[in-house]
Amino acid sequence: MRSSKSYKIAVIPGDGTGPEVVKEGVKVLKAVAASLSIKYELVNYDLGGERYKKTGEILPDSVLKELKKFDSIYLGAIGHPEVKPGILEKGILLRMRFELDQYINLRPVKLYPNVPCPLRDKKPKDIDFVVVRENTEGLYSGGGGFLKKGTSDEVAIQESINTRKGVERCLRYAFQYTLKRNKVRKLTLCGKTNVLTYAFDLWERTFHELAKEFPKIKTDYAHVDATCMWMVKNPEWFDVIVTDNMFGDIITDLGAMIQGGMGIAAGGNINPEGVSMFEPIGGSAPKYTGKNVINPLAAICAGGMMLETLGEEKAAQRVEAAVIKLLESGKLKSLDAGKMGMSTSEIGDWLAANV
Ligand code: IPM
Ligand code: MN
Repeated sequence: MRSSKSYKIAVIPGDGTGPEVVKEGVKVLKAVAASLSIKYELVNYDLGGERYKKTGEILPDSVLKELKKFDSIYLGAIGHPEVKPGILEKGILLRMRFELDQYINLRPVKLYPNVPCPLRDKKPKDIDFVVVRENTEGLYSGGGGFLKKGTSDEVAIQESINTRKGVERCLRYAFQYTLKRNKVRKLTLCGKTNVLTYAFDLWERTFHELAKEFPKIKTDYAHVDATCMWMVKNPEWFDVIVTDNMFGDIITDLGAMIQGGMGIAAGGNINPEGVSMFEPIGGSAPKYTGKNVINPLAAICAGGMMLETLGEEKAAQRVEAAVIKLLESGKLKSLDAGKMGMSTSEIGDWLAANV
């Protein structure tokens, strides 16, 4: 029985508003775990900008080794205004994704009831899809370099690395996920086959090969630019979108906006055979730090995704149902930081009392 197991969860509150939203997420996790007798153990890690400034440590190898022993990782945000952009993002967030081989970045785009949507006439029934983003390769792999840096002959090369193995395992996950989700069973490959004729040739060939193994799934293709257009014009066309790392990064920010903003957008960095990590996708929001005004819903929904991935589906459903109940109640005036009409901790309290 799952419920006899005690989950080991590493908590990385991180930078900026990360600790505030993670605190509310943990509050809700504790409440739902208590109501369903789910056992767990939380271990905190102080990775982030403050530790780096104090000690120069980014992500020590020993910590990474420890993280591999957890059932899951719950992350707030990484990014500090006094640390040069890239150091913490690459050194902590991307390094964890790579070294824990979290090859899927799963980002649901779901408009909940009573959430203001910038798309006129679009309702919750129209915006409910999931983006499966490849999370370990492509332009993020770090391939490339400079030649003659700083001279007028400078060359900068940034390579998109796409391996058959990496592409295939991502596509396979997307096909399986589409089946399991069981909505309209449609999987759209988002690429750029008209220009990126090597990388997306591999993606497209592998996609069609795998499609033969999944006859119940309708397949579709859209270029990334057109995907952006359809996400705004006809988001109801999408069920599951699968794409590479860079395109997935871009279209999921667009996705977050059409589902009501960064305040509610959650994501999972998933290694289906290993340790996964769940996070609100909004970042550290330095300007709102310490004010009890940031929206914790994205972090709370990320906690729900974590429960679902651990196999605690009932608990995940309760978290989502409580979030929907709060939104439907009209208590929240907005999902944007500073305009919510409820504080960060009040939202956590309300949800903890309602799961
Ligand atoms: C995200 C973020 C990261 C990414 C940054 C912070 C490195 O934008 O999770 O989408 O580009 O993947
Ligand atoms: Mn991003």
